[in-house]
Amino acid sequence: MDLGISGKWALVCGASKGLGLGCARALVQEGVNVLMVARGTEALQAAAAQLIDSFASQNGAIVQWLATDITTEAGRAAVLAQRAEFDIVVTNAGGPPTGDFRNFERDDWIRALDANMLTPIALIKATVDGMAAKGVTINNLLPCAFDTERLQSIFQGAAAKTAQPVDTVAAARRNTIPAKRFGSIDEFGAICAFLCSQQAGYMTGQNVLADGGAYPGTF
Ligand SMILES: NC(=O)c1ccc[n+]([C@@H]2O[C@H](COP(=O)([O-])OP(=O)(O)OC[C@H]3O[C@@H](n4cnc5c(N)ncnc54)[C@H](OP(=O)(O)O)[C@@H]3O)[C@@H](O)[C@H]2O)c1
Repeated sequence: MDLGISGKWALVCGASKGLGLGCARALVQEGVNVLMVARGTEALQAAAAQLIDSFASQNGAIVQWLATDITTEAGRAAVLAQRAEFDIVVTNAGGPPTGDFRNFERDDWIRALDANMLTPIALIKATVDGMAAKGVTINNLLPCAFDTERLQSIFQGAAAKTAQPVDTVAAARRNTIPAKRFGSIDEFGAICAFLCSQQAGYMTGQNVLADGGAYPGTF
């Protein structure tokens, strides 16, 4: 199915690995021009090169990258200096540290809010007017357990804490999911690309759960 977004420009944050990479890949596959952002240069450059080799070299999409911290004002300014107008913005960054909430200090909470709430708000604020002139939708994608480096590091932390093998911790988690598996970043990216598509143009303000049936309810 042609999603009708070829030639549009997307900003994808946290795009060198994991869920962000899944989104960038699905969009480039659709012919969307993508500016990929993450902090580490090496992984980001390699991810962009892989998307160019696999898809952009054939469908003509432009793939750019910028290594910066999207949770800082300077990082966001650098992104917007590279390109000010986008048709699609995927806000994403590293998640908060794992652990017992009793041990988190005020600064930990502020950092988590900065990364996962105020950064998306700042990015939306910077780009929404240009998008609204063409019509804009905003949807949230809610992942449960997708097979990424972050998920693996959570398992490693739990394994160290409980003195169990990592595989045992991962298997126990997998077993709580009715689908009996973790999601793949390509599945996540495909949902993202659909939400950005012409076909989803009448769908806005939705929280879309992707959890293999882990939520025990019908709505
Ligand atoms: N995986 C899941 O099952 C799951 C479930 C629920 C929620 N989430 C949330 O989804 C988000 C992504 O998770 P993931 O599993 O894809 O993580 P991941 O595999 O660790 O990938 C995170 C990506 O974001 C980049 N990044 C991290 N901090 C950044 C920053 N300050 N500025 C720019 N880029 C940054 C990382 O590259 P650099 O480190 O080089 O910057 C990397 O490309 C997190 O907020 C996580 O909490 C994930």
